[in-house]
Amino acid sequence: MNRSKKDITLMSLNEIKNSLKEGKVTISVIGIGRIGLPTALSFANSGLPTTGVDVNAKLVSMINSQKYPLKDEPGFDKIFHNVIKKKKFHAVTEISKVVPDSDVVILSLPTPMNNENIPDYSALISVGKNLNKLLSSKTVCPETANPGEILNDFKKLPRLVSAIDEKIIPIITEIYAHVFNVEIIPMPNCKTANAVKLTTNVFRDINIAFVNELALLFEKLGIDITTVIETAKRKYNFQPHFPGPGVGGPCLPVNSYQILNTSKNFNHDLLKIVQTARKINEDMPYHVIKLLADALNKVGKSVKNSTVTILGVSYKPNVRDIQLAPSGEIIKLLEQEKVNIKIFDPHFISTEIFSHKTENNLEDAVKGSDAVLLITGHREFRSINPDLFVDIMKSPVLVDCTGMIDPMSAKKSGVIFRGIGRGGT
Ligand SMILES: NC(=O)c1ccc[n+]([C@@H]2O[C@H](COP(=O)([O-])OP(=O)(O)OC[C@H]3O[C@@H](n4cnc5c(N)ncnc54)[C@H](O)[C@@H]3O)[C@@H](O)[C@H]2O)c1
Repeated sequence: MNRSKKDITLMSLNEIKNSLKEGKVTISVIGIGRIGLPTALSFANSGLPTTGVDVNAKLVSMINSQKYPLKDEPGFDKIFHNVIKKKKFHAVTEISKVVPDSDVVILSLPTPMNNENIPDYSALISVGKNLNKLLSSKTVCPETANPGEILNDFKKLPRLVSAIDEKIIPIITEIYAHVFNVEIIPMPNCKTANAVKLTTNVFRDINIAFVNELALLFEKLGIDITTVIETAKRKYNFQPHFPGPGVGGPCLPVNSYQILNTSKNFNHDLLKIVQTARKINEDMPYHVIKLLADALNKVGKSVKNSTVTILGVSYKPNVRDIQLAPSGEIIKLLEQEKVNIKIFDPHFISTEIFSHKTENNLEDAVKGSDAVLLITGHREFRSINPDLFVDIMKSPVLVDCTGMIDPMSAKKSGVIFRGIGRGGT
């Protein structure tokens, strides 16, 4: 333990500023996954000696062998190689090896949900207990960011900082201002800072539920929702949200359940809108199967025992992540109908997803299928030519959950097309 160093919480702000400038504030980031690694790299890139700690020994060894692990997080690969070269960053598996010598400890640990939609804080609690033993007084901060766009967010979005002990707030503000060239907003306390994050994410969950319900109605009314949203966008106070096969990922559904579970401690009737939004979004996979059944019916087929190709399994475009992805629910529903499932996702080549082997390329995936379900709008699917479906499928049935296929050109090619909310097309 480095006892010669002055505790950062006992330093004046001027002393902290100087230590930051001289690169003497040492950082450890515990949990170097999707959020923790970009965070650690940002600290290291600002000149502060940073160590990543993770229980995943494979990840730690990959990092120490200079292999950048987050291929779908653009921009950080360059920073990664740069900070490793400058010896500002490395990774270890044991907390006890680095925490005692760190001035600031950042936790970026998984906070998933269990089967009852209750957040699982076990990783946080276990690390917290360890920290208790290792720390006398250290500054511990939380983190937020959007996968696939983390560098952009770190460069543009204001950062919220807070602390349990309010004396620490100016210290964290100073440290964050050194690392991130954006506005740093000190919040009155941690629960208010967290409420901002929950509010922005729950807002999206509710609004996606709203457009999902509109989509169901517009299909019946013969209205194309894409045309409606694109035009509504022209009004200054409308914020566009788009329908889809459900809402997944480690944030939106989890945050909605977090706020619902908290509200239940006070009043079971609070936040009914969030409950309803969750139900609507969780029911969307059933709607996808209905669209599929309807389209297959047009060619005299049923879902049962058919061969269906799934394009895209990630919970959102351009990331390699299937946490709570709607594709998982859709695959379960297809399995119940004994469907022969083929999967192609450019982020999951030659691997196994939801117990199904994935295909190596689009053509092999689509060839001989009765229908295609386009679930995730990865950029690689933007250039799909609908003629491909007509040429190599048993029946050219396409259900687009992403809104990225132009129904008119699909139909012109001879494709039997269904899309979420694409009434009247
Ligand atoms: N992914 C997102 O969209 C996102 C966005 C903003 C905030 N967050 C929050 O960031 C936090 C981290 O999420 P993530 O998406 O980076 O998760 P992740 O699963 O990608 O990374 C977490 C890392 O922690 C490691 N880990 C697990 N238990 C550990 C332990 N006991 N000790 C050390 N390491 C351990 C795992 O091996 C993994 O590498 C969560 O609280 C999440 O809510 C996530």
